[in-house]
Amino acid sequence: MPITVRAITGAEFERYEAVAMQTFGGDVSDGESRLAKVLRVKRAYGAFDDQALVGTAGAFEQKLTLPGGSTVPMAGLTFVSVLPSHRRTGVLRALMTKHEEDMIVHSEAISGLWASESSIYGRFGYGVAAESDYLETDARTLRFAADFEPDSIRFLDKERALEKLPTLYNSVPRPGHFTRSAVWWQHRTLYDGPGRRGSGSTLRIATAVRDGAMVGYVLYRQTAANDRGLLDGSVSIVELLGADLKAEQTLWRFISHLDLYPHLTYWNAPLDCALPWLVEDRRRVRRQRTDTLWLRLRDIPTALESRSYAKDGELPISLQGEDQSYNLQVANGRASCEEDHGQVGILLARQDLASLYLGAFLPSELAAVGRIAGSREMIERADGLFGSARVPWCPEIF
Ligand SMILES: CC(C)(COP(=O)(O)OP(=O)(O)OC[C@H]1O[C@@H](n2cnc3c(N)ncnc32)[C@H](O)[C@@H]1OP(=O)(O)O)[C@@H](O)C(=O)NCCC(=O)NCCS
Repeated sequence: MPITVRAITGAEFERYEAVAMQTFGGDVSDGESRLAKVLRVKRAYGAFDDQALVGTAGAFEQKLTLPGGSTVPMAGLTFVSVLPSHRRTGVLRALMTKHEEDMIVHSEAISGLWASESSIYGRFGYGVAAESDYLETDARTLRFAADFEPDSIRFLDKERALEKLPTLYNSVPRPGHFTRSAVWWQHRTLYDGPGRRGSGSTLRIATAVRDGAMVGYVLYRQTAANDRGLLDGSVSIVELLGADLKAEQTLWRFISHLDLYPHLTYWNAPLDCALPWLVEDRRRVRRQRTDTLWLRLRDIPTALESRSYAKDGELPISLQGEDQSYNLQVANGRASCEEDHGQVGILLARQDLASLYLGAFLPSELAAVGRIAGSREMIERADGLFGSARVPWCPEIF
């Protein structure tokens, strides 16, 4: 029996979650579904073998922040799973086809995802568009400069945080951020059920306050430990955001000086995280880089016209393995992009164009490892256009 893929019905939502959780090796938690709050049923796709649901995928309707601060609608691909009984029989491929068709219906030029394995999505045209560092340090060994007047620290409960944090988050957009609705803040970012906590505490919400106004926040959990009488706990940062450097400094000093909790980790620190620059011995801040946000540029002209560029210029772009060529023109800061098969510029795969899109990598970096072909002049021109003032960072997994 061939696999059919369609949007599920509301009545099938429970089974949809159960199939995905079984595939990921967990169980559906009791009570109201949090997923149902943030994923529209018509964007939840099921793959059926006869009547049986054997695979799932879904698309959050998001907006992604781009270089220059503009946003573009993004289909946030999520909940991709295929039951072990049906693996490697083409079910994922069928789900991806449905996802692609639905993006056209919803006029979404790009799709984004966080991959469970980095080997899966390149074949579907997704490329690494942002990275982050797993950061780890023994805070007892960190020495900060002495002359610093910090902001005040105040804790918030979840209700107050739901009121206050979105304004701060929205005020410091950077490439890789995505918009968070009130429902998203409640059921995703600040969700604090037992499944989220693991062995850690409830979510602590500490804010930096200056002249009565909130200028930053850090979300974290604590895990206590007792090493034969020496208290040796760990702090796990979920998200740290400051409106400016002083706010970030305040938060890093605060989180590094929690009595009884010397071990500090941040699973998703931005690559330009301030901490190594704030301490005397930067090597004590250990960092391990990993890919985070992957993007697929479905509608290349719309995607490329949506972001800003570092300078004006013109760049012919041809897609490897696809009979597609475009001419990107940036004049007076405005980009236009049209299909054009007439000129020779750079040649690259769709997934590699996605790696340039937010500025995570320069064209010359990808050319140096054989991912982009083009004359030296064209690669330099591409560097001048695609370079971003701020390294991208996607603050949350979805
Ligand atoms: C990953 C997963 C969704 C793949 O589903 P599937 O139905 O077995 O995939 P398909 O049979 O449609 O395979 C499509 C292509 O992807 C490749 N592929 C599938 N899973 C892969 C993996 N884990 N690593 C590398 N390639 C993979 C297949 O070889 C096939 O390649 P080809 O068509 O280019 O030859 C499935 O194994 C799964 O549910 N894994 C556990 C949960 C998970 O990791 N989900 C992804 C969340 S981001």
